[in-house]
Amino acid sequence: MDGCRPLSRVARAAPEEWTPVCLVVDIPRLGARVLERPGDARGNVAIFRSGDDRVFALDDRCPHRGGPLSQGIVHGDRVACPLHNWNIELDSGAAIAPDEGCAATYPVRVEDGRVFVALDGI
Ligand code: FES
Repeated sequence: MDGCRPLSRVARAAPEEWTPVCLVVDIPRLGARVLERPGDARGNVAIFRSGDDRVFALDDRCPHRGGPLSQGIVHGDRVACPLHNWNIELDSGAAIAPDEGCAATYPVRVEDGRVFVALDGI
């Protein structure tokens, strides 16, 4: 599934594809904020900030039963889904074994403390 590709291995988006989202400081450390996509069948996007200030963007929908990942607990490079505690890698969106599946991920760029996301992916 496309969403399971680690983003460190995908090509960068063209400049016109980057959508400004918020400031890094607008995202709670070890937390998330939601980027709403009304009318988009893919649902909302969760923008996560790790403990060391890296930023990740994933569909706000757990690959298990659609739980809101933005309300999960961020630990290291993972988020624990609030519904049944599956752990999802923030970089690839992949569920940690033995669970299977992935949440779609989106390339993120941080520039001068501002967060940009390529919402159409790569
Ligand atoms: S919906 Fe996320 S673990 Fe079940």
